Amino acid sequence: MLEAIHARIREAGGAISFAEFMALALYAPGLGYYSAGARKFGAGGDFTTAPEISPLFGRCLARQCREVLVETGGSILEFGAGTGALAATVMETLASLGTLPERYFILEVSADLRARQQERLALLAPPLAARVVWLDRLPEAPLAGVLLANEVLDALPCERFVMREGRAQRLGVGLDADGALCEVGLAGDFALPDGLVADALPEGYRGELCPSLAAWIASLAACLDRGLVFAIDYGLPRAALYHPDRASGTLRCHFRHRAHGEPFVNVGLQDITAWVDFTAVAEAAADAGLAVAGFVTQAALLLALGIERDVAAAGDSATRHARASGVRRLLLPTEMGETFKAIALTRALDLPLSGFALQDLRRQL
Ligand SMILES: C[S@@+](CC[C@H](N)C(=O)[O-])C[C@H]1O[C@@H](n2cnc3c(N)ncnc32)[C@H](O)[C@@H]1O
Repeated sequence: MLEAIHARIREAGGAISFAEFMALALYAPGLGYYSAGARKFGAGGDFTTAPEISPLFGRCLARQCREVLVETGGSILEFGAGTGALAATVMETLASLGTLPERYFILEVSADLRARQQERLALLAPPLAARVVWLDRLPEAPLAGVLLANEVLDALPCERFVMREGRAQRLGVGLDADGALCEVGLAGDFALPDGLVADALPEGYRGELCPSLAAWIASLAACLDRGLVFAIDYGLPRAALYHPDRASGTLRCHFRHRAHGEPFVNVGLQDITAWVDFTAVAEAAADAGLAVAGFVTQAALLLALGIERDVAAAGDSATRHARASGVRRLLLPTEMGETFKAIALTRALDLPLSGFALQDLRRQL
């Protein structure tokens, strides 16, 4: 992995953008963190996501999907399906509710994770497994139904910048005198997100920006004929994300359940992420003709979708206890409850969405 990145830096004349570095470190075929065989998820991996913490997360999301599927018919398309845990729970829950999607499509950039998803979802009952289809690219004909993305936006490569003498300078990746990866300033002006003024940010302030986010949302919008784009991730509206108090940015690396800020160590063996600018998501959605139908914290989403009832419905106290401890991690403000947000982007869907009924944070976007 390091050799490939060094070669690319030399080929580029001494420096590459941070986004290119991150794309290589995470997704270079056969070498990148997501593309190669690192364990990634769960206790023996580097981080744990909501579907791995509790199946009740997927059950709640399935209820939201069902509401939409009843209205639109059609399919679910999940992006970046991880181990396949969410897909499995969503399909089992929808089967129990009597509303299966025509197809459960999965679009996954990592060959390693695709293989794991195939193994996991082969364990579903055959009539459910038969509906799961992996795609190599977005479908050409727009579909009706739900496009689902849990913790995918934070994994899109980001750029980094630092404020120097009132200007935003783009940061890239080069090699130091010993040949080790290091941060370098790149020439040229760095365009801050709309509405953000350089004067408002203190000297030395650091931040990130996802250059491919708008195009990604536009490509999703282009393949949704009618229904819901349902994305959940950690992030904030722009004003809070780029607040002067948050002066060291939100880039985080995850290695064996330790979060740190050093992207140039464990290259290819650790996850690299940055928080999502949900204002950018809403802007890109509006540009692509989607309506922002809801924006809530993960806690508000799951409570509105009945997660407490699922805990109470456990048949015995051991199950109830196990469910409650997972649910605490999903809901508590000190864990995932407030940092994670859910956004609903819709096309031609005039339907109250139950998951977004308890709270409305759209005015903060
Ligand atoms: C942090 S993991 C989340 C996995 C899973 N959704 C979960 O909640 O456990 C990020 C996932 O997004 C995938 N991914 C990253 N960029 C993607 C893209 N452009 N399209 C589809 N999947 C992508 C990664 O390979 C990985 O499966």
